[in-house]
Amino acid sequence: MNDRLATRKAPVIAVDGPSGVGKGDVSQFLAATLGWRIMDSGALYRILAHKALASKVSTDDVPRLCALASDMEVNFTIEGDALQVIYEGMDIGDAIRREEVGVAASQLAVWPEVRLRVVRAQRRQRRAPGLVADGRDMGTEVFPDAELKLFLDASVEARARRRFEQLKALGFSVSLDSLLQSISQRDEQDRTRKHSPLVAAQDAIVIDTTRMARESVREQVLAIVQEKVQEKALDKQGQNAWSASAL
Ligand code: C5P
Repeated sequence: MNDRLATRKAPVIAVDGPSGVGKGDVSQFLAATLGWRIMDSGALYRILAHKALASKVSTDDVPRLCALASDMEVNFTIEGDALQVIYEGMDIGDAIRREEVGVAASQLAVWPEVRLRVVRAQRRQRRAPGLVADGRDMGTEVFPDAELKLFLDASVEARARRRFEQLKALGFSVSLDSLLQSISQRDEQDRTRKHSPLVAAQDAIVIDTTRMARESVREQVLAIVQEKVQEKALDKQGQNAWSASAL
């Protein structure tokens, strides 16, 4: 489908922020509450990194990375509490969560030619009734016209601890120190890269979750969305009026 056409189709809530800040939890919660689609945009960079590692393609080899990135089709579904990432008929969610895949994803995500192909695949996820898009540049680059932009932030220590608990629950053995180091390194890479750096959109609502429990973050986000739903319902001209009945 033409990217532009897909872009006009459905409303988007962008949930951006650094690694381990809890975007995934907020996005799944919102998608389930609204009955919308969900996209973990980092999963597309991770799938590409996973493919590159498996076929021994360097994260600097732009032409081969572009070839691997073309026509990526991914499906996301929420099963209970878990997000399934279906690629080529298989759930590869666990395989792409490995830290080495995350580091490689961050390295290859610096190349604009590679990003262009990944962004095309991300925009194809914008379909009715709406999309909750979790990432780094959802509100700035991929969906600059998103109806609502949230930017979650937290200290690097709080994020390393959360990622540690998350990986432990999945059965991976990692040390907190090495996570702290790799998250700081990834932050630096993501915030300082030339193309699409990690930055809050000017019209994003920024929430610092360092001292907030998961439930409080969800409550705050839900209150913001409810306010937005009312605004949209009042805006009779709005082409993408949101359904208040969803909440
Ligand atoms: O979010 P996640 O940690 O899974 O993303 C892996 C890497 O992919 C990030 O460190 C970042 O470099 C890249 N990424 C990106 N833009 C996005 C999502 C992820 O550059 N929208």
